[in-house]
Amino acid sequence: MPTSRVRRCAQLQFRVDQYKTLDFAALLSGRPAVSVRNVRQALAAHLDQPVEIDAAEMQALAELDCGTWSTCDALVAAHGAACIEGLLAKQLLLVEDDDSPAARRDRDVRASHWHGGAAIAHAMSRWSHNDSIAAQRESRLQSVGDMVEAFGPPPQHFHRRDDAVARVALDEPARTALDDLLERRATCRNFDLAQSVSVAQLSTSLKRVFGVQGMVELAPDAVALKKNHPSGGGLHPVEAYLVVQRVEGLASGLYHYNVEAHALDLFQELSSGEAHAFAMTAVAGQEYFADAPVMVVMAARFARSMWKYRNHPKIYRAILLEMGHISQNLYLTATEMNLGAFITAAINEVEIEQAFGLEPMTEGPLCVCGFGARAQECATVEFDPAHKVWAPPAA
Ligand SMILES: Cc1cc2nc3c(=O)[nH]c(=O)nc-3n(C[C@H](O)[C@H](O)[C@H](O)COP(=O)(O)O)c2cc1C
Repeated sequence: MPTSRVRRCAQLQFRVDQYKTLDFAALLSGRPAVSVRNVRQALAAHLDQPVEIDAAEMQALAELDCGTWSTCDALVAAHGAACIEGLLAKQLLLVEDDDSPAARRDRDVRASHWHGGAAIAHAMSRWSHNDSIAAQRESRLQSVGDMVEAFGPPPQHFHRRDDAVARVALDEPARTALDDLLERRATCRNFDLAQSVSVAQLSTSLKRVFGVQGMVELAPDAVALKKNHPSGGGLHPVEAYLVVQRVEGLASGLYHYNVEAHALDLFQELSSGEAHAFAMTAVAGQEYFADAPVMVVMAARFARSMWKYRNHPKIYRAILLEMGHISQNLYLTATEMNLGAFITAAINEVEIEQAFGLEPMTEGPLCVCGFGARAQECATVEFDPAHKVWAPPAA
């Protein structure tokens, strides 16, 4: 493709990874047996994995322009055919009319105004077909006891600053109904497979947690929404995608919560078996969560936040924080309805993106919540030391 025009990808970092290998020949001859190999890697926001590169490729990438298109001929003349072919094969150099997923994603990264470090962290922290339960089993670090044995005790649970200059004692606060509600909040890992959520419960939850309470046009075509949680820059980039398994009168399947219409937009009906299988994949094998009658995938419309916070090092963090606020509202809304709720960040983003048609650098799933009626028995552990949710075991 000598006359094709190419350019370097938008967001790129280099790192050196170190691998240790056991050299058996050296071991047998009495020489040092562990050899260390340093590997140069390119990390790019449009790729899912780091890519190994050689010294010439690294040098060329450091010199190539990511903003303007050059002909292949010109780059071959400057850096050599092997180097440029290698970079094209690794998709670190992209051809102008390339419509591959990687090339499209590079264009998304540019259009969304990602900060480089955040973009790479986001792209590379996504999972595909990961079974977190199997991985935990294989790690042999299942219980806290296993971890203390392997790592020693964790940092102390209370943080005391001995360098403080004085201490001011505080009165015990007066209790209100909010304390009762907060105390009944516990991550639910036991959903009742025989119970459904009513449409009214679903509607209430979505309206309260993701719905709009007001709106103001701040400038032409720039509308600020008022919701029940704070939002970085007031831009409310978080969308709710639903995996419905058991909602009375609603087909199981994949939906998007349409905030504007306060309605559910159906993407795909699924049989109950298909919906459960997808739920299992979404929450990376955590069966106790996959049993929830409703799961809510939270996805961020990065371009909306990054329209204001261009190439900003903090906005990715602000979006993650916002999801925490939203999840607490979901927990409390469910708790008030005597339902259980959960959140997990252990999710297979790639399969979720594919199912809902999301482009990861434009609209990325970051966590999954769910809610529904608790089971009669607490088969999987929940953290309820004061027995606000589960009755204490019989003496
Ligand atoms: C961001 C986030 C991610 C979480 N991910 C998981 C998870 O993958 N699996 C799980 O069982 N619990 C998960 N949890 C729930 C915590 O384990 C739980 O909040 C903690 O044990 C305290 O229990 P509580 O929520 O009942 O007070 C997560 C919580 C948060 C805030």
